[in-house]
Amino acid sequence: MKFDTPAGTNPIDRMKVVGQPLDRIDGPRKTTGTAPYAYEHHQEVPDAVYGYVVGAGIAKGTIRSLELAAARQSPGVLGIVTAQNAGKLGKGKFNTANLLGGPRIEHYHQAIALVVAETFEQARAAAQRIKVDYQRENGAYDLHAAKGSATKPKADQGPPDTAVGDFAGAFAAAPAKFDQTYTTPDQAHAMMEPHASIARWEGDALTLWTSNQMIDWGVGDVAKTLGIPKEKVRLVSPYIGGGFGGKLFVRADALLAALGAKQVGRPVKVMLTRPLMFNNTTHRPATIQRIRFGATPDGRFQAIGHESWSGDLPGGGPETAVNQTRLLYAGADRMTATRLAVLDLPEGNAMRAPGEAPGLMALEIAVDEFAEQLGIDPIELRIRNDTQVDPEHPARPFSQRQLVRCLQDGAKRFGWDKRNPKPASTREGRWWIGQGVAAAFRNNLVMASAARVALEADGSVRVETDMTDIGTGSYTIIAQTAAEMLGVPVSRVDVRLGDSRFPVSAGSGGQWGGNSSTAGVYAACVKLRQLLAERAGIAADAADFSDGRVHGGGRDVALEALARQGRVVAEERIEYGDLGEKFQQSTFGAHFVEVAVDAATAEIRVRRMLAVCAAGRILNPKSARSQVIGAMTMGVGAALMEELVVDRRLGFFVNHDLAGYEVPVHADIPHQEVVFLDETDPVSSPMKAKGVGELGICGVGAAVANAIHHATGVRVRDYPITLDKLL
Ligand code: MOS
Repeated sequence: MKFDTPAGTNPIDRMKVVGQPLDRIDGPRKTTGTAPYAYEHHQEVPDAVYGYVVGAGIAKGTIRSLELAAARQSPGVLGIVTAQNAGKLGKGKFNTANLLGGPRIEHYHQAIALVVAETFEQARAAAQRIKVDYQRENGAYDLHAAKGSATKPKADQGPPDTAVGDFAGAFAAAPAKFDQTYTTPDQAHAMMEPHASIARWEGDALTLWTSNQMIDWGVGDVAKTLGIPKEKVRLVSPYIGGGFGGKLFVRADALLAALGAKQVGRPVKVMLTRPLMFNNTTHRPATIQRIRFGATPDGRFQAIGHESWSGDLPGGGPETAVNQTRLLYAGADRMTATRLAVLDLPEGNAMRAPGEAPGLMALEIAVDEFAEQLGIDPIELRIRNDTQVDPEHPARPFSQRQLVRCLQDGAKRFGWDKRNPKPASTREGRWWIGQGVAAAFRNNLVMASAARVALEADGSVRVETDMTDIGTGSYTIIAQTAAEMLGVPVSRVDVRLGDSRFPVSAGSGGQWGGNSSTAGVYAACVKLRQLLAERAGIAADAADFSDGRVHGGGRDVALEALARQGRVVAEERIEYGDLGEKFQQSTFGAHFVEVAVDAATAEIRVRRMLAVCAAGRILNPKSARSQVIGAMTMGVGAALMEELVVDRRLGFFVNHDLAGYEVPVHADIPHQEVVFLDETDPVSSPMKAKGVGELGICGVGAAVANAIHHATGVRVRDYPITLDKLL
């Protein structure tokens, strides 16, 4: 089904099931521990042995020698995989460094060996007996030092630079000017479930039970790395304990489990230990961002400039932190630029709202600072610079853009009018109190997505798609979609996800999963409805599906009666035409935060949080709210705690565990309120929905920072805002 004109009325609009705040249908399995995660497929693979990954002890250089004899003789050891005995390996499309290193080492904790043994403890003990002799080389580990040598990256993540009008001239001539630089640190996904895989070979065919957001990408990269046909690789990933972008791509656990299983002739399970994950897998790259505004005295932007520097391994990509600045505010003369330095740190890549999340941490502080400089309320300044068209391409309107309503509605709910605009003006005992606001913005991407839907002989409905549920609620909204389309209760819909034997879906990434995967299910349901109407003797366009029946044209038939004549199955894929070129599709919101800062110690407590979001039709308000509060929590982490500390001498992230890499806990997070504006977007898909899972983190960090400045009068431009920076 090609989606190339805005959606008209369709059965989803009934909103009998879609749009209801259903509990997650996988909830009981999760909370009772019966949902098998990647490392737990004991039933399918009762005979797996254990692999333990050895990570490189240097950041850059060569392995001179690898002594394996002592490890090989250790109790229980079945085999050891290294680059020397693994055979010729390719590199996945989505991997920058090799998943198995040696003799060249590209980054610290790059996997260099897998020890396979009967038990995990035996594999771990043997791994300690491997001796590696390295030839260490000097590397580049400091973004600030490498900034001067940064170059314009390739355009494979969109244009690195944009320019409209005459930024330099307009900035120079502007009556009011602003120019500041901000920094964001490297951050880790730190999801609950570590990367893990179980591999089993049957002849030349490989099955991997793994924790992966994008099944089809994973199949492609495993096949490419091993040099085998895609058809010989099956990925199974029914439950995922968080991904945040860290599981968009296959990592060392998957490749090494496959290689280990091949070498020892038995299934092998591999989990990356927590201390290995931080340097072995990907992370969100640090940025340096310079923001310039030129405006009239009453705050109309004339010139907007945003430059961002980040680093990655050779062949890697930039953090696209200027994304939102191309679209968020009006202004005739504008420029954005992305620069990429070569760093020998672990591989950078996508983490929840890549680009916008760190980009807004800079841009939305800058707007707050400029508002203060101009003596204009920060909400008013944003409203004055609203645009209903893509400011770089004024012929392209936004499909929907309710940023102003988000700001105004939020201001009313939050009590913004009670705020004294003067910083450091409110004190409660030993606490300075402040409120901050920031705009939220994240693009709405759409992806082709397929599904298979069957009316089973017993009258139940089965949905199969390789879509994943990373804790987001995919199972539930897909069940709601099929139930709405076919007029059956959700309890009669059996959703099967995360298996490459199922039709290829959009997968979970870039906040496109919810809208795109349900649109694929919608498309398959349209086809199934045609087949069922035909069987019922009803013209397809006259058929109405509700209450377990199909009726129309004077006929009224129970689906169960149709099912008794035999299973009916339909498979379809939704694809998108050029609507995305005609309209700019984005999601918007406003974040409001109140903080208290201890006057003596500078301890920061977040007291209140509110997000108002405009993100198309909300398919399930409960799971959508969960996405947003989780993202807001992550935004507090980004503002106050999260930072991978770089050892600039030796080139690794020092705090590589959850004791040293701090994330918020319940005690750090106050009551959170989330409001969704009533919105449907017929340009996005037949579901008229958009993403929310990443919108929720976008702007939170700046809202926290702005609240801290309002409380204390201290402006910190270097995240995270730890208390030492306030004293
Ligand atoms: Mo997202 S960072 O594309 O999982």
